[in-house]
Amino acid sequence: MSKQSKKGRAEFSSSFGVIAAAAGSAVGLGNIWKFPYITGVYGGAAFLFVYLGFILAIGLPVMLSEFIIGRKSHRNAFGAFKKLAPKSLWQYIGILGVGAAFMILAFYGVVAGWSVDYVVTALSNGFADQSPDQLAVMFTSFIESPVQPVLYQLLFMVLTGAIVMLGIKDGIERNVKVMMPVLVVIIIILNIRAVTLPGAGEGLRFLFHPDFSKLTGEGVLSALGHAFFSLSLGMGTLITYGSYIDKKNNLLNTAVKVTIADTLIAILAGVAIFPAVFAFGIEPSSGPGLVFITLPNVFQQMPGGYIFAILFFLLLTVAALTSSISILEVVVAYFHEELKLKRKIATIFATALVALLGVICSLSMGIFKDYTFYDLNFFDLLDWISANLLLPLGGLFISLFIGWKFGRKKIRAEIENGGSISELMLSGFIFLVKFIAPIAIAIVFLSGIGLLKI
Ligand code: TRP
Repeated sequence: MSKQSKKGRAEFSSSFGVIAAAAGSAVGLGNIWKFPYITGVYGGAAFLFVYLGFILAIGLPVMLSEFIIGRKSHRNAFGAFKKLAPKSLWQYIGILGVGAAFMILAFYGVVAGWSVDYVVTALSNGFADQSPDQLAVMFTSFIESPVQPVLYQLLFMVLTGAIVMLGIKDGIERNVKVMMPVLVVIIIILNIRAVTLPGAGEGLRFLFHPDFSKLTGEGVLSALGHAFFSLSLGMGTLITYGSYIDKKNNLLNTAVKVTIADTLIAILAGVAIFPAVFAFGIEPSSGPGLVFITLPNVFQQMPGGYIFAILFFLLLTVAALTSSISILEVVVAYFHEELKLKRKIATIFATALVALLGVICSLSMGIFKDYTFYDLNFFDLLDWISANLLLPLGGLFISLFIGWKFGRKKIRAEIENGGSISELMLSGFIFLVKFIAPIAIAIVFLSGIGLLKI
């Protein structure tokens, strides 16, 4: 029987469903593609420790804030603020979020498409006998080509749209409940393989033995930016998912579990990758090409590499899919509730628009490469605007909203609906969202746009 709230609005049907959906949103390309390479670039463990600090002090409180806004209002990212703070400027936070969702999903779908292509290449044993240089050329010529990456991006977007079209319970919840356990199993298998390679210890030391001299100001800023991206914060994804959480759910508990799951999977991705990279004597700081160029090189030298390559790119694809549906849902819920489109029509419309923007992103790697803005191609531009402008601004306003506008009583009521919180914890949470998060985010924002030099 379908469980619906009084107004007939959809809800997740179980607390495992809630956690699988929210953790599915959080765990994505950010954890498996981006986290390992930025950790590599900024010197390993020192970066990891700063990142963990931001996750706890800023990420977790902002996540709880988004859940509170969503569940209290039972609305999409825009409608939530319209309902909680009628006729105020706060509702524009929601518009910012929907705009960010468009941009992020456009380039996210492109990278997800690459990973689908790499599943196919791995299946056909396409990495075998290629030199490191050949693998690099293989990747760059693939992403620059005008047809293949576009087709894979479209395929991925159709998959994303199809799941969202089926609805919250029958589409999103049902699929993440299967995909998240699969993801965990795959990453554990990859971890066992990586740490049992001869010479794995050096990779583990790189990941867990901090050398703070390698950590730059820029590294600290990326750590905060990435904490936001990785936890899916700042654009209303978790407001939207929060709006489907039932009144009995313990929101603090859910936020803690989702944060732990996301962080653990990022670390496990590091443990799957660095020991293997070091074991074969490859440089860890190889940037965005780490998983698409360096890893295929690792796999073709590794015993059992054929299978592990397939598993790895499957992992990347599944992780991307459980995130992309959460981003698309932000747009669909907005179109459906605010523009009053039927949910199916809203999904088709949103998917088509995002896919189109994604095609331009993909082509900007190759044939549209020369159309740049401040030296950024379209792909990098969307990435830059969303990561450096829209997400921090969204996160800033969300924490200010809960810290300054929402009210202590209502915060307590929402947290204690299904849970409990001591006076001290409540004060601590409010202090973090009132002061610490906004100040930290403002610093990252100002330096991101070049107004502050660190
Ligand atoms: N968190 C996902 C990842 O790590 C991506 C993502 C999903 C996201 N929803 C988001 C990022 C909202 C920013 C905002 O890959």
